Amino acid sequence: MRAHIVTYGCQMNEYDTHLVASELVSLGFQMVEAVEDADLVLVNTCAVRGKPVEKVKSLLGQLRKEKERRGLVLGMMGCLAQLPEGQRIAEKFGVDILLGPGAITRIAEALAAQGRFWNTDLDPALPQVVAPPPRGALSAYVPIIRGCNHRCTYCVVPRTRGGIEVSRPPEVILEEIEGLKRAGVVEVTLLGQNVNSYGKDRPDYPSFAELLRMVGALGLPRVRFLTSHPVNFTEDIVRAIADTPAIARYIHLPVQSGSDRILKRMAREYRRSDYLKRIEMIREHLPDAVLSTDIIVGFPGETEEDFEATLTLYDKVGFDHAYMFIYSARPGTAAAEHFQDLPREVKVRRLERLIEKQKAWSLEKNRAWVGREVEVLVRGQARESGFAEGHDRGNHPVLVPAHQAPGPGLYRVRVTEASPHLLFGEVTEVLHRPTPREAVA
Ligand code: SAH
Ligand code: SF4
Ligand code: F3S
Repeated sequence: MRAHIVTYGCQMNEYDTHLVASELVSLGFQMVEAVEDADLVLVNTCAVRGKPVEKVKSLLGQLRKEKERRGLVLGMMGCLAQLPEGQRIAEKFGVDILLGPGAITRIAEALAAQGRFWNTDLDPALPQVVAPPPRGALSAYVPIIRGCNHRCTYCVVPRTRGGIEVSRPPEVILEEIEGLKRAGVVEVTLLGQNVNSYGKDRPDYPSFAELLRMVGALGLPRVRFLTSHPVNFTEDIVRAIADTPAIARYIHLPVQSGSDRILKRMAREYRRSDYLKRIEMIREHLPDAVLSTDIIVGFPGETEEDFEATLTLYDKVGFDHAYMFIYSARPGTAAAEHFQDLPREVKVRRLERLIEKQKAWSLEKNRAWVGREVEVLVRGQARESGFAEGHDRGNHPVLVPAHQAPGPGLYRVRVTEASPHLLFGEVTEVLHRPTPREAVA
């Protein structure tokens, strides 16, 4: 039997795809590159905004036709599978297997059922499951906490990934990372909706700052983490980063809006001034830290003045990078039920203004790296011909001439040029190349 998984959404979904694919392989499946070659097609879905949901619908439309033509088994997993909206879609497109994000451990059971198998329960064993290392990869994700205790009014995630934060046992996390290290991985990214809540549900577990130090002590060259919530991004975390050279100097701290009125409507639990204090604290301990954020423009009720507050916050912080989204009303969220959506043109215009501003900041921030040396984890060839592509400890995408970095590995690079989106550089030293065994794809 041959299987293919299509993945939408965030890093959590990428990890879940890896976990399910590993399980399928151990069940005797061969993972194939193309949908046309597969007998089992799983769609790992995202529901955070309307766009990814539309993508899932159009893919399922094609897959349903394919199923009618040649009888494949069709599955839906991921965040959309957990929501009534997604289950209606699954029904409509004849999905055989539906597994919520907490039920992905049931894939073997689902396949054995030989008929419709839908499950959206949270398997209590899930946090203990140790994923096998991805073959030949230099970089891997490691979830440390699932679910979200916050209730941002626009967001579906607490309903899809769980409304109570559950930390993964530290020994399981460390075991998984040790396995990755043995397999040749040089960079791990610790994952969670709010990684800095780690351990708050379990007094017997380390805190996030302590966990960072423990992971840092394992001797992997690079450790990153995503995503942090401003509310409990505390000084002990920043100190742990400052004390641990392996930890990336990169902090993604979503602010969502610069207006207190909107932050309150979003139920973000902090004010603009609290956020700015956090940034000051980070800069004090980590002056070189690269900062990125998430922004939602056009939240219901956002006035021109509120939007201006986001612009001025931008200029106060100077983000290196930002992920900017137009507000998307999601069924079942408090914001969609209680607030009136703004006209699309208003939202689009604001997004364009913000993108312009971010571009200027990114260019200025990136230019400050010209002439300096960075350590780049090269993944492979870039889309731009003649270049290899990777990212540094600050998560900047970096391009180097392909002949200087003939394969994946860690390289020291002198930055020679910058654009708003990229750094360009010359390799000055090869730091680590995987051995042929590790390089097997
Ligand atoms: N847990 C993380 C982010 C989860 S979702 C955090 O709290 O920071 C990733 C990003 O998608 C969010 O930070 C937000 O900017 C965006 N997002 C979530 N729901 C959205 C919606 N309904 N419309 C537009 N953007 C949204
Ligand atoms: Fe969603 Fe807010 Fe939780 Fe992030 S903190 S996952 S935006 S509810
Ligand atoms: Fe999407 Fe779920 Fe991630 S909604 S962004 S796949 S947590």
